[in-house]
Amino acid sequence: MKYILAFETSCDDTSIALIDEEGNIFKNLISSQLKVHKPYGGVVPEIASREHLKNIIPLYEKIFLESSIGEKDLVAIGSTMGPGLIGSVLVGYSFAKALAYSLSIPFYGINHIEAHLYSPFIEKRDLPFPSLILVVSGGHSHLFLALNFEKYYLIAATRDDAAGEAFDKVGKKLKIPYPQGPKVDKLARKGNDRRYKFPTPKIKNGLDFSFSGLKTAFMFTLEKNSLCLEKFDEENLPLWVYDILASFEKSVVNHLIDRIEKAIERFKPKSIGVAGGVAANTLLRQKIIEISEKKLLPFSIPKIEYCTDNAAMVAFKTYLKWKNGSNSDFESDAFATFDFKKYEFMEEK
Ligand code: KG4
Ligand code: ZN
Repeated sequence: MKYILAFETSCDDTSIALIDEEGNIFKNLISSQLKVHKPYGGVVPEIASREHLKNIIPLYEKIFLESSIGEKDLVAIGSTMGPGLIGSVLVGYSFAKALAYSLSIPFYGINHIEAHLYSPFIEKRDLPFPSLILVVSGGHSHLFLALNFEKYYLIAATRDDAAGEAFDKVGKKLKIPYPQGPKVDKLARKGNDRRYKFPTPKIKNGLDFSFSGLKTAFMFTLEKNSLCLEKFDEENLPLWVYDILASFEKSVVNHLIDRIEKAIERFKPKSIGVAGGVAANTLLRQKIIEISEKKLLPFSIPKIEYCTDNAAMVAFKTYLKWKNGSNSDFESDAFATFDFKKYEFMEEK
């Protein structure tokens, strides 16, 4: 069996994965920088890139040590080329490119969001196309219609904050330690989601998302009701914390679900997928299952390890390119931002 090796270093996780020549993930190692960034309440870009530099070689050695595979078994190498924190992207990208060059095998630069977009197919390869895919993370909120493994349309995007960013910011306001999203999810499970009312984001013409109004309404509700926490003590929280987080989470998820339902009506997909860190959210997962049952559409939400940033999704996209016989990307360059053109037909190079 031959293998493809892939790297992901776009933000605060150093990750390396191996996928076999049939497209099955063989190994996915993630070295988290959570502890390093925690004291700062969020990711510090300069520290993130230095940590990647520290972690990448030990992780590279570990993935071979833990398997009977060696460099001789590799047929291609892939790496995230952006969007992301450019100092972080460049660590994995340069390492991967140099490695492929030294082994004389093809190198593929992978768009991080495209890797998220196809991640629902890692475990469900037969999910039918066209598939409506929601990519929601700390940096992005995009809705795509994937026509096949190469072609997709961007249907909608956020006009301001990303969904994960909204969870992180309101969590931060309540002094929840970084990363706030998973903790907001946990606390919201115990809250009354009807206690606080937040406005439904209104956007004219189109299916775009907007979360900044909701976030402002959250801050305003705290102020109006004189709600604040001196410190975050999880064992000793007042009831309003659970309730306000449950109410906020419901508003964010309802907004995402509203867009999905409208997109289903308009584009008539044959399946639904959700990807990115926010796909780990309990309420969103439940609602997707409900829509799938209501509309009789098969769905896929990757396991949590493949939702948050990981190299398995980069390996899968690299595998698709390699299998297609795509040209090697040695001439390509890394990038920090990327604008998907809306409604336009996207085609791989
Ligand atoms: O995909 P990801 O790991 O990194 C980015 O590319 O941004 O996503 C991280 C985001 C963070 O904003 C985090 O708070 C959010 O996903 N997140 C969640 C949950 N788990 C992670 N948000 C809500 N509920 C969760 N369970
Ligand atoms: Zn991501």
